[in-house]
Amino acid sequence: MSHTVQRYDFRDKDAAYDQLAGELAGLLDGEPDLVANAANTAALLYHALPEVNWAGFYFLRGEELVVGPFQGKPACVRIRLGQGVCGTAAARRSTVVVPDVDKFPGHIACDVASRSEIVVPLLAGDELLGVLDLDSPRRERFDDADRRGLERLAKIFLQAVRPAAPGI
Ligand code: SME
Repeated sequence: MSHTVQRYDFRDKDAAYDQLAGELAGLLDGEPDLVANAANTAALLYHALPEVNWAGFYFLRGEELVVGPFQGKPACVRIRLGQGVCGTAAARRSTVVVPDVDKFPGHIACDVASRSEIVVPLLAGDELLGVLDLDSPRRERFDDADRRGLERLAKIFLQAVRPAAPGI
């Protein structure tokens, strides 16, 4: 199978995320493997979304998040719940949008080029699997349309890897 990732212009973010949702659903269709789907999701997001320098996953292992498949520079491996942007989104179980990482107390700088960030928790019913994390080299890169769009993509990912989970 070959897959050419389209780079969307994202002038109409809702429309672009609609298209991307269809592309992601096709990419993950019929494949339940967590690592395979996380790797392909990270690759799709990294190449499709403009102004993103890191896109990937942290998975919950006990009381810590451990880095999973991603695209971008090598990243910190372990993040405690409540720590940094990832640990905050995981602890709150809700998406955190950070317009300026320098103004987020406790932000963990994996790539010094990152200026803004969005982290979406991965919830299969009540079970927290981990988080989806995207960084941008531009301040205020992520807004509410990105939150909506990425939460939708996270659901598509969760449905592929936890097809029987309630409430996804
Ligand atoms: N900035 C994140 C750490 C992960 S990297 O951005 C890939 C945080 O503060 O949790």
